[in-house]
Amino acid sequence: MGLLKALTLAAAGLAVVHAKPLRERQLAFNYNDDKVRGVNLGGWLVLEPWITPSLFEPWANGGGVVDEYTFTQVLGQSAAQNRLEQHWATFITEADLKEIASVGLNHVRIPVGYWALNPVAGDPYVQGQLPYLDLAIKWARGAGLKVMLDLHGAPGSQNGFDNSGRFGSIAWQSGDNVPNTLAAIQTLANRYKDDTDVVTSIELLNEPANWGNDMNLMKKFYYDGWGNVRTTSSETAVVIHDAFLDVQSYWNGFMGAGSGVNNVILDTHIYQIFSDGEVGMNPCEHVQKACSAGPKVAGTDKWLVVGEWTGAQTDCARWLNGLGKGARYDKTFPGAKNYHGNCQGKFQGTVDGMLEVDKVNLEYYLEAQLDAYERHSGWVFWTWKTETAPEWHFQNLTRAGLIPQPLTSRKHPGQCDTSTCMIPGNQ
Ligand SMILES: *[C@@H]1O[C@H](CO)[C@@H](O)[C@H](O)[C@H]1NC(C)=O
Repeated sequence: MGLLKALTLAAAGLAVVHAKPLRERQLAFNYNDDKVRGVNLGGWLVLEPWITPSLFEPWANGGGVVDEYTFTQVLGQSAAQNRLEQHWATFITEADLKEIASVGLNHVRIPVGYWALNPVAGDPYVQGQLPYLDLAIKWARGAGLKVMLDLHGAPGSQNGFDNSGRFGSIAWQSGDNVPNTLAAIQTLANRYKDDTDVVTSIELLNEPANWGNDMNLMKKFYYDGWGNVRTTSSETAVVIHDAFLDVQSYWNGFMGAGSGVNNVILDTHIYQIFSDGEVGMNPCEHVQKACSAGPKVAGTDKWLVVGEWTGAQTDCARWLNGLGKGARYDKTFPGAKNYHGNCQGKFQGTVDGMLEVDKVNLEYYLEAQLDAYERHSGWVFWTWKTETAPEWHFQNLTRAGLIPQPLTSRKHPGQCDTSTCMIPGNQ
């Protein structure tokens, strides 16, 4: 059956019978039998003020810069280009990829914006990211790592988050934005079609919001994007994000076996910090909630990767909620409901400078999450490094002994096999 016909049938919701078995074996990573253990290279080719506050410090008290869009707009082309080139060349280097491999990780997920791939006329963004992406793939190959490429920002913004490139409204599905997103995916797939030994997966779009977007159009985009990747390469898995909808009740049945598409990975992001209720949970409740995700991720009808998660149990990290904004946890966020505690050691600083009690809680929480998220295809931590947010800094957390080495060992085994909280002092 022709690809287009299969897609048309699949899009129409008709079952497509496969003449051949699915071709998972052609992928250079065995997503059936091996666990994805990865880190995101966040804040590198797509800026996030809270990951690299030094770049945004001039606007700490205002001035209209809150994301990469306004950063490039306010600085202007040549100044923005200079600062970004310097950032790209230094924030992630070959030494990082080597260290990532040396601590037992096997994947890196690399966010990249449409503006690096398919710039849209009138945008202020600057280009030049792709040579660094090429390098990262070369370094990953040298280190024995696999790469998940991740289109993190779409024109118009798919979620209005600053990490989409542009904070504010959601306008991804208006005008030519969706076709331009598909063109960006095509550029990505074409550029790395001969690197499928390393680039084992491409994520069509990070965190498209289920609010402010039409889900039927999003699903059509997923089929079209899958087609763009698949016509270019049969050896690349296609990653779709769950749009913050239930990975089982909403997504089971979509793009599953029998829908005419193959090698699809569902990406879900698990954070317990973006509501008042969640930042109000105690460490035992955070562990319990992490464990409860285990059966959830285990029960999907397609591969599932927890593509983002963190050691943080609060939203204390400076600017995590946006440049200049405070935290729900200490009630400094606009409209925050309750004061839950102070952000000492978590607002900014180093892993070594965290409070002892926070280190202990983080260690239990991390291991519980590893237990839960390995129940399906694996996980990718957010993020490898930050300038000043300790609980999000996989590199330093590992160096400090707060992440198990090897990654499969446990100091606190069996947390998800009991309803008893194992954290000392938190019974
Ligand atoms: C990470 O470790 C490096 C090297 O020790 C240090 O310079 C940096 O401040 C640390 N950052 C965090 C957030 O822990």
